[in-house]
Amino acid sequence: MGVSYNYHPDYESALLRGVEEPRPWDLQTLISSLCEPQHNLLDIGCGTACKLIALTKKFKQIFAMEPNPSMLAKAIQNITLNGINSIFLISGLADSLPFQDNSFDFVTVMLAPHNAAEIYRVLKPGGYAILETIGERDKHELKLKFGYADNQLRGQLSNLKENTVKEVAEKEFRALFSNVTVQNGFWKTYYTREGLELLLEQTPTIKDYNRTLDAAALTQVCEALKTAKGIELTQHRVLITSKK
Ligand SMILES: C[S@@+](CC[C@H](N)C(=O)[O-])C[C@H]1O[C@@H](n2cnc3c(N)ncnc32)[C@H](O)[C@@H]1O
Repeated sequence: MGVSYNYHPDYESALLRGVEEPRPWDLQTLISSLCEPQHNLLDIGCGTACKLIALTKKFKQIFAMEPNPSMLAKAIQNITLNGINSIFLISGLADSLPFQDNSFDFVTVMLAPHNAAEIYRVLKPGGYAILETIGERDKHELKLKFGYADNQLRGQLSNLKENTVKEVAEKEFRALFSNVTVQNGFWKTYYTREGLELLLEQTPTIKDYNRTLDAAALTQVCEALKTAKGIELTQHRVLITSKK
């Protein structure tokens, strides 16, 4: 997912996130169960840093890395508004982490690109890598309604066979790390049509999504997947935890 995200206020809209049924795991609880107060953490592709604010009390220092200047600017605003002085924001890319070897107790990647060898390099021996990434069956019911472009489904990851993301991650991390666990997680989320429009505009879910040109496809999704709770979609994430 080497996609460039520009910050837009809709990115933080609750409508865009929908109403979620419980997830099979909670990243904050998982990280909190493994860390100690003297530990430091690097988060790759931090976006607006909103997920890190809840972790500040758990770590001595958090280094939040993000390549997009507009996301970084919003992240600075978020941490300043919350009065936090232990999160340090850095511009950088997953494939070339601007840190020395053996620098961190934890590296997290949440829905952003990763490079396992770079994560391994910057982790201290005994350090943990925790990644949550999008699975190939994420919102698949919706993606299938948006058809093909250049002989490929337009849905992000839709052309991959079932279990590909899990299998690739497993291979990548087992080659370097010990104590590797990789699991698929699925849960339902309910959206309004307006929420889906924002989601499709703000994320790479559908290649070249256009609110006007794709209105008929979205209407089909809304009709086919309508429930009393809203438009029902299945989320698919893959969780990887490993130790250096
Ligand atoms: C879906 S957002 C996730 C943001 C945040 N981690 C979260 O979970 O809320 C993906 C982020 O990865 C960043 N990104 C894109 N390409 C990247 C790369 N090559 N290296 C690091 N971050 C990248 C984007 O700018 C964006 O902020």
